[in-house]
Amino acid sequence: MPKSSEQKDGSETETPNFCCIDSFTHLASSTKSKNNTFPMKRTVRPFFILLILLVFVATLTSRAILRKGILSIELETRVFTRDPPSLNSTLLKYAAVEIGEEKSRQEIQQLLDGNFASQARHRTFVSWRRFIHHDGGDRNLPATLRSPLFYRYWLDFRRVLHDWARKRRFQPGIMSELTRSVKVPLDRYNKVNTNAVDSGEKKYSSCAVVGNSGILLNRNYGSLIDAHEFVIRLNNARVDNYESKVGKKTSISFVNSNILHLCARRSGCFCHPYGPNVPIVMYICQAVHFLDYTVCNASHKSPLLVTDPRFDVLCSRIVKYYSLKRFVEETGKSLEQWSSAHDGALFHYSSGMQAVMLALGICDKVSIFGFGKSSSAKHHYHTNQKAELHLHDYEAEYAFYSDLVDGRKPIPFISEKFKIPPVVMYR
Ligand SMILES: *[C@@H]1O[C@H](CO)[C@@H](O)[C@H](O)[C@H]1NC(C)=O
Ligand SMILES: *[C@@H]1O[C@H](CO)[C@@H](O)[C@H](O)[C@H]1NC(C)=O
Repeated sequence: MPKSSEQKDGSETETPNFCCIDSFTHLASSTKSKNNTFPMKRTVRPFFILLILLVFVATLTSRAILRKGILSIELETRVFTRDPPSLNSTLLKYAAVEIGEEKSRQEIQQLLDGNFASQARHRTFVSWRRFIHHDGGDRNLPATLRSPLFYRYWLDFRRVLHDWARKRRFQPGIMSELTRSVKVPLDRYNKVNTNAVDSGEKKYSSCAVVGNSGILLNRNYGSLIDAHEFVIRLNNARVDNYESKVGKKTSISFVNSNILHLCARRSGCFCHPYGPNVPIVMYICQAVHFLDYTVCNASHKSPLLVTDPRFDVLCSRIVKYYSLKRFVEETGKSLEQWSSAHDGALFHYSSGMQAVMLALGICDKVSIFGFGKSSSAKHHYHTNQKAELHLHDYEAEYAFYSDLVDGRKPIPFISEKFKIPPVVMYR
C-alpha cells in the first residue's frame, strides 16, 4: 500500500476502501446498462475477478490498520518506559533490606544496658579515664561509672543513643528537614540569620563539597572552591600548604564518628580535628561512638552535629541500590550473592556520599571537587594511603553522582516532592 503510507493523517488508510467501492458500483452499473439479454457467462468473469480483488484489497487494508494499531501501541509503551524512566522494583526491594540490622539492634541494647565488654570496646572507657584523669585507677567499668563526671556522661550517652536508635527508620521526607536540623544551628552559631524560621527555609546559594582525591593536585581549584557560600570538607582533610589546590574556607567538616573517636584521645586534637572553630557534622558508624560524642559535645564551642539516623538510612539505601545494580550488571551473578561479595553487614556509604547528600538538602547549587580517582593521581591529596576500603563501593557512588549531574534520572528512595538542585562535578 504505497499510497496510504505516503499520506499522513490516519483517515487515509480507509480511502482505498471507498475508492474500490466507487469503482465497483461504477463498473457494475456500466455492465447493467449494457445489453440485458447478454448471457451472464461473459459478465460473471470480470465480476468475480473484481470481487476477489475487492476482498484482497479489503484484507490488505485491514491488515495495515491492524499493523498501524500495534505499532502505535508499541510506540506508546516505549515512550512510557522512557519518560519517566522507572526504577527497578527488584533492586529497590533488595536495597531496602538492612542486613546487619538485627545485630546492630542487639549491640545498641547492650550499650544501653552498660554492657561494653561484648563490644571489645572496653578500652573506650579506659582511655577516657586516662585522658580526663577522673578515676582512682580502677580498671573495672562499673567503678568508672561511679565517678560523678562519668556518671553524668553515662546518662547523657544513654539518652542520646536511645533517641537515636528510636528514630532510626526509613523516611525519604528527611531530605526536606536538613535545613532545619543542620543549617539552622550553623546559622545561629555564625550569627548569620537569627531568625530560625527564615534560615530554615532559605538554603545556601552555593555549596562546594571537597573530597580528598589526589586529582585535586592536578588543578588549582582553590579560589573557585572558596567562592562558594558554603564549603564542606571531609574527614581529616588538611588545607594548610594546599590552599591553591583546595582553598582554605571550611564551613563544616563532615566526618565519620571514628575520626572523632580517634581525635578524642589525642591531646593535640581533643574533639577538634579542624581546630576549635570549625563546626562538625558527623555520622555515627558505630553506636559506641556516642561516648565520644557525649564527651566532645560538652566541650565543643562550635556545633557538633550528629546526622539524623533517618538521613543515614536514606543514604545507605541509595548507595546499596547502585551497588546491587552494578554488581548484577558487571558480574552477571545474582542479587543474593552481593552480600558475600561486599561484606553485606559492614557495607557502608562513604563520608563523601553523605556530604553530597547533605549539600543537596541545604544548597541551591552544588559543586563537587576532588571526587574520583585517576591512575596519575594519589588516592588522597594529603596522605600516602593507597588502598581503597572495600566496605565502600566507590564505583556505585560515582554512578550516583553522574545521575545527579545528569539531572534527569530519578534517584531511588528520594521522594519526588524533593527537588534536587543542579550538581556540577569538577574533575
Ligand atoms: C531488575 O533488575 C534485576 C537485577 O538486575 C533484573 O534481573 C531484572 O530483570 C530487572 N527488572 C526490570 C523490570 O528491569
Ligand atoms: C550538645 O551541646 C550543645 C551545646 O552545648 C547543646 O545545645 C546540645 O543539646 C548538646 N547535644 C546533646 C544531644 O546533648
